[in-house]
Amino acid sequence: MTRRTFVIAIDGPAASGKSSTAQMVAEKLGYLHVDSGSLYRAATAATLRDQSDPSKWTEQAVLDAARPVELRAARTSFYPLLEGRAIEDEIRGGEVTDNVSRVAQMPRVREWVNQKVRDAAKSRNVVVDGRDMGTMVFPDADLKIFLVADSRERAARRLRQRGTPASQQMLDDETMRITGRDARDAGQTVPAADSVMIDTTGLTQQEQVEQIVTLSKQRSG
Ligand code: CDP
Repeated sequence: MTRRTFVIAIDGPAASGKSSTAQMVAEKLGYLHVDSGSLYRAATAATLRDQSDPSKWTEQAVLDAARPVELRAARTSFYPLLEGRAIEDEIRGGEVTDNVSRVAQMPRVREWVNQKVRDAAKSRNVVVDGRDMGTMVFPDADLKIFLVADSRERAARRLRQRGTPASQQMLDDETMRITGRDARDAGQTVPAADSVMIDTTGLTQQEQVEQIVTLSKQRSG
């Protein structure tokens, strides 16, 4: 059956502002936001609860641990539950962030995430964000955006998001973490040929949201 909902796919590298932008675009348009990264993070958090040594994780162990994860629709977004409980703080922690790329390399885990994201879009208009939404998951998305930003700017944003005052050393460390994750995720993070590239380095959040809302209104006619 062909899809009848409207899908906006926003992809880009770590901390490029995909999720916050996708959330604001969804709210402006009355769509639901789906953060595919939150599912990779939920699978990672679930596996960390079962097994402490990530270097020994097998694809099957991750899939087994992730089985009780579900995506629940709230007013403006879908969010993951693990055994019926919200896990937002757990999935944003350092241990999950350091191990999520390993889990995201596993092909059956990618299929598991992709299926959940596609299911979410079956009955609702959505703004989905991730690395490969416009290429692998929704090659027929109505609008595809690829966000990029300078790595130091991305590190500064991530630190501001955490709300702690940041020293030069913290900024250097965060930049290294982000470029490390860029390297590990490089295989998945490829812009779709028909995506609109937006460099957000010099843009405010409001400006990038407006650009995407304007493009989407043009596309939906
Ligand atoms: O922290 P950031 O917002 O950049 O990342 P995220 O969207 O929360 O995704 C966390 C991790 O999941 C990434 O570092 C990727 O390894 C993986 N991911 C992926 O491989 N494909 C996606 N569509 C989304 C996330």
